[in-house]
Amino acid sequence: MADPTLLILPGDGIGPEVMAEVRRVIDWYGARRGLRFAVEEDLVGGCAYDAHGIPLTDATMARAQAADAVLLGAVGGPKYDALDFSLKPERGLLRLRKEMDLYANLRPAQCFDALADFSSLKREVVAGLDIVIVRELTSGIYFGEPRGIVTEGNERVGINTQRYTEGEIARVARVAFELARKRSNKVCSMEKANVMESGVLWRQVVTEVHAAEFPDVALSHMYADAGAMQLCRWPKQFDVIVTDNLFGDLLSDAAAMLTGSLGMLPSASLGAPMANGRPKALYEPVHGSAPDIAGEGKANPIACILSFAMALRYSFDAGEEAARLEASVERVLADGLRTADLLGPEGGKPVSTRAMGDAILAALDESL
Ligand code: IPM
Ligand code: MG
Repeated sequence: MADPTLLILPGDGIGPEVMAEVRRVIDWYGARRGLRFAVEEDLVGGCAYDAHGIPLTDATMARAQAADAVLLGAVGGPKYDALDFSLKPERGLLRLRKEMDLYANLRPAQCFDALADFSSLKREVVAGLDIVIVRELTSGIYFGEPRGIVTEGNERVGINTQRYTEGEIARVARVAFELARKRSNKVCSMEKANVMESGVLWRQVVTEVHAAEFPDVALSHMYADAGAMQLCRWPKQFDVIVTDNLFGDLLSDAAAMLTGSLGMLPSASLGAPMANGRPKALYEPVHGSAPDIAGEGKANPIACILSFAMALRYSFDAGEEAARLEASVERVLADGLRTADLLGPEGGKPVSTRAMGDAILAALDESL
């Protein structure tokens, strides 16, 4: 059988430098574990705009649709701030999510023990934390119509529409319940049913799917604002959180900080199964393109490397190899290695992006 295809889209800012480390990890799996991929590379975001005048070409879109999995670095940067909305780097990423129909975005927030003191919250609040936010990714206010900036009378009005069909809610709820069954069997659904009709429907549909298909899973509901508060107060009460596109965007950034650094967190965006049984999938770090440090070799490659681990698990049925990679990352952190983002107020000597990659490769070697 031909090697599965992996389309790599490094993107902008620190994307290319963190992705360079991932490529070395991919090569390691080919050489040492016989897990080979046909790796292709292409442009998305600002770099695609620079080359082609748009943030994602139809040709790249078609390659993403055909790939067994897509791995993305990050998009965006101040250079593109003045561009028309439709040409902004972020539109490239949103087009990928929408056209691949990647409706379920899994964002784990896991606190590595070696970093528990580095969180802005107390050690006992975050140590051992292991939760997953399942964010709906292809609908809601990000995509609802009508939208735009229009003129009414003598002033401008900005319009976005929150819209969810019951089918859209049910399918992401199923992903959350299935995932919970493999974990602690507990789902908390978050919306604002107290003020939004879309929230009322969200709660109803999640409740119906639960009763009909997943009565064995413990289900609770929370208003998303209270959920944000509880995430900071006692995050270990949660296992799987399922929520809509915008709330998921906010809550996952908050959850990220519980773990010490945004530079640590991977994500998987999954859609329906393809003909070969693999889900349509795109993997990317939760962090952005960090233009302020781009090109300096300071960025933390761990989130992007752990995104590849998620690809091994969810696209390539290689859960044990994913665990090997995760354990290697944990090992390196336990040994005290820190990129600049992982140094607390007391400071210390940071290692470079490349040195972090070297150490993870060495830990992989040792794992054999
Ligand atoms: C994320 C990002 C994106 C989002 C941006 C870059 C479009 O913040 O993936 O969380 O808002 O979804
Ligand atoms: Mg975000």
